[in-house]
Amino acid sequence: MANAIALGGHPFGQQTHDRHMSTPAIAGRARIKRDHMTNIRDSKKALITGITGQDGSYLAEFLLAKDYTVHGIVRRSSTFNTDRIEHLYRDPHDPNARLFLHFGDLTDGTGLREILTRVQPDEVYNLDAQSHVRVSFDQPVYTSQINALGTINLLEAIRDTHLPTRFYQASSSEMYGKAVQTPQNESTPFYPRSPYACAKLYSFWQTLNYREAYNIFACNGILFNHESPRRGETFVTRKITRAATRIALGLQHELFLGNLDAKRDWGFAGDYVQAMWLMLNHSTPDDYVIATGETHSIREFLDQTFAILNLDWQKYVHVDPRYFRPTEVDLLLGDPSKARRTLHWKPRVSFKQLVKMMVDSDLAIANRERLIADHEKPGASTLIPRGASSPD
Ligand code: NAP
Ligand code: GDD
Repeated sequence: MANAIALGGHPFGQQTHDRHMSTPAIAGRARIKRDHMTNIRDSKKALITGITGQDGSYLAEFLLAKDYTVHGIVRRSSTFNTDRIEHLYRDPHDPNARLFLHFGDLTDGTGLREILTRVQPDEVYNLDAQSHVRVSFDQPVYTSQINALGTINLLEAIRDTHLPTRFYQASSSEMYGKAVQTPQNESTPFYPRSPYACAKLYSFWQTLNYREAYNIFACNGILFNHESPRRGETFVTRKITRAATRIALGLQHELFLGNLDAKRDWGFAGDYVQAMWLMLNHSTPDDYVIATGETHSIREFLDQTFAILNLDWQKYVHVDPRYFRPTEVDLLLGDPSKARRTLHWKPRVSFKQLVKMMVDSDLAIANRERLIADHEKPGASTLIPRGASSPD
């Protein structure tokens, strides 16, 4: 149910002058507006790149609940890409609006400077990316333009504008790749295994270097995999919960996956965005591993998911080599003790709770699909093919 969200223009809309302040009702409204403007001026301002993604939407929610004014960069697209933040958005003319969106792209340094100058954020969260590891093998140059050069564009814009803004970089456990040590912590050497991870490594070091060279309050969050009902549908967890719930309702009969033996340290995205904020609100900038400290295989994720639905996954799941990666990351397991010790951060949602949360949410979606299928073609085949030719 995507709607048009108004973007661009002045972040505070057009609400500064009211020529008709004389009537008491309007004067009252004007006072509320002035109070709101004062509140907005007094509240902290955050700028989020990748606000339309999984993490961006949870972070925006989290910061709005903390009374921040939140600005997000959205890339222009011919179809709406703002579904995940629809529930947070208010028209900028609404005096209670605290979320403002700006068109932009990380490849456009001039545009980034302009947005930074206009918004003057206290905190910048760089979350945007071509975030799919498998896709990065097909699009290595594009992935590097966004995940590596995009970051340097943003860091340069911050340096040029001399803003005292704090900077968060979305670094990734993928950088550990062919892990030379388990569990992985902040001192574990990196060994990237994909164009995605190589590009993220570039951004990791640039962030650290801008901290040391220019004294920018810049932090790397080395986040291990984190999932949610808002996870993109081609990442393995969501692919599984979507398919299993559709299978349970007779909307789909099979699921094709790649390597079932890989292991990941999966947490809940809602918990992880809190860690991003804690990093930028600590007294000194630093880099932190954010993880649960537990690892599970894809097979275990399948076990948990299908068990909730009283199904045996072995009957439905097939391995298709097209989903294998030229170089795989076999095992990720994070050691978040530094974040626990220094930021007092710990994950709240367990593996089991995470799977249940995703299954419940996807079951509700599948139920709606089922209703539509039954309504549209009574008696006809109810199979709705999904992503049969998806490359990832
Ligand atoms: P996601 O759902 O794929 O969201 C990525 C965001 O980046 C989307 O808002 C996307 O916009 C935006 N984007 C992509 N290319 C862009 C460009 N050229 N200019 C501007 N925006 C662009 O990813 P996520 O799971 O929220 O992850 C957030 C960040 O954390 C990413 O940098 C990811 O690499 C990193 N990370 C994620 C995890 C994880 O497990 N989720 C773990 C470690 C690190 P559209 O909506 O228009 O596509
Ligand atoms: N996507 C996908 N699709 N993965 C599959 C499939 C499949 O059909 N079958 C097996 N897998 C395996 C992959 O080979 C990989 O080992 C594992 O499932 C997880 O894959 P993804 O869910 O695509 O995530 P990822 O670990 O490659 O990358 C995610 O986590 C990183 C942090 O470690 C992304 O969110 C990255 O952006 C993030 O940096």
